[in-house]
Amino acid sequence: MDVSVFGIGYVGAVTSACLSDSGHNIIAVDTFDVKVQCINEGRSPIVENGLDDLISKGLKSGKLRATTDYVDAINNSDVSLVCVGTPSAPDGSLGLNFITDICEQIGEVLKTKDTFHTVVIRSTVIPGTLMNVVLPCLEKASGKKAGVDFGLGNNPEFLRESTAIADYYDPTEIVVGALDDKTAKMIMGLYEGIEAPRVVCDVQVAEGVKYVSNAWRAAKVGFANEMGNILKEHDVDSHKVMDIFFKDTKMNLSKYFLTPGFAFGGSCLPKDVRAIRASANDKGLKTPLLDSLLSANKAQIQRGFDMIKETGKTKIGLFGLSFKAGTDDLRESPLVELANLLLMDGFELSIYDPCVYKASQMDGANKDYITKGLPQIYACIREKAQDVVDSSELFVIGNGTKEFASIIEQADSNKSIIDLVRLGSPMEERENYSGICW
Ligand SMILES: NC(=O)c1ccc[n+]([C@@H]2O[C@H](COP(=O)([O-])OP(=O)(O)OC[C@H]3O[C@@H](n4cnc5c(N)ncnc54)[C@H](O)[C@@H]3O)[C@@H](O)[C@H]2O)c1
Repeated sequence: MDVSVFGIGYVGAVTSACLSDSGHNIIAVDTFDVKVQCINEGRSPIVENGLDDLISKGLKSGKLRATTDYVDAINNSDVSLVCVGTPSAPDGSLGLNFITDICEQIGEVLKTKDTFHTVVIRSTVIPGTLMNVVLPCLEKASGKKAGVDFGLGNNPEFLRESTAIADYYDPTEIVVGALDDKTAKMIMGLYEGIEAPRVVCDVQVAEGVKYVSNAWRAAKVGFANEMGNILKEHDVDSHKVMDIFFKDTKMNLSKYFLTPGFAFGGSCLPKDVRAIRASANDKGLKTPLLDSLLSANKAQIQRGFDMIKETGKTKIGLFGLSFKAGTDDLRESPLVELANLLLMDGFELSIYDPCVYKASQMDGANKDYITKGLPQIYACIREKAQDVVDSSELFVIGNGTKEFASIIEQADSNKSIIDLVRLGSPMEERENYSGICW
């Protein structure tokens, strides 16, 4: 393919060199003469293992050249990969100046270009940028329609500096967002021969993946460091602990506990976060990340409450009271906290949770906990789901008990639904359905 790459920085230089090595014809573009000169002399403009050799190889084979002339680059390519910087603005927001400048330049050339051209954003941009900034900017400058007169998509970059070339040839995944299938196929075609899981998705989803990845990586570093500091204070070698922690790929390094939804609860997580944090604080250590876990959890309960309140409905049917399906354990259940907030605010609440109802009828500690410890909530618990269905205007799905889906699907479809767990059922198609974070 004939490809122009905009921005000869860490991403653009590696992308240009690797694509040329894969056999594509690459024109790299930058506003800085010195970067262009580097490429055209067969040298890397950045320090990156193996990049000098790859650039020199590309130059010799005639597959790679660089220019400051964007008109020449666009007219002599079928696809433009945008790899310009998106630095932080002074207020921390994403600086899009380079992106809008480049879109104006590309759009201006597309105005008179009579062959089909595809624009691919590889820079990291906040979800919505492609549709709300890039697309209008390109359409305005070109007078043409995206998805019809020119292709538009994104292909976030996940390389790590210092191992960038190895990461290019052995990526964890290749993610492509595109306005249409033809564009998605064309972008994927750039990576023919590279073995990796390939994902085609909406452009907003591709934008989101990049931020989830980077925020997660940052959270992992902060978490590992904070736990390391605490363990050191307890005279424990943190690396030995982490080596054992890593071996658990079922729960620790896996998708478990990484599905957006409602707050955590139960008898362990809140207690144990409090305890390890308290032990660290006793030793004079600050634990900003652990501190944030409990307040972030509280904020998610408040978010659920605010969503319910915003509907203006006052008769609420809560499906689920224990912190997860299949247990009657109400200790620190976030749904108990939500129920209390609703009752304190004057909502009419009825609750269906078969496990909790059963426990409330059996002799033992759980019965006392529910009937005596939480009398205000016990008064709202109904034995039959139908009683909750009949008495509510709004259904709140609180935990993943399977039968909730069929109960709600069979109920009056005019009733509103707020889902805190995502049961993954056809009810999501209803207009009056809202997920807490999807
Ligand atoms: N550096 C990384 O490891 C990495 C990894 C993944 C994603 N990203 C993302 O990729 C993007 C680029 O990052 P980078 O580190 O390569 O940036 P960089 O600052 O190293 O390079 C950007 C280049 O774009 C050039 N440029 C700006 N405007 C231009 C224009 N109108 N025409 C041509 N060139 C222009 C600049 O002169 C510069 O050389 C950012 O959004 C970044 O967040 C970076």
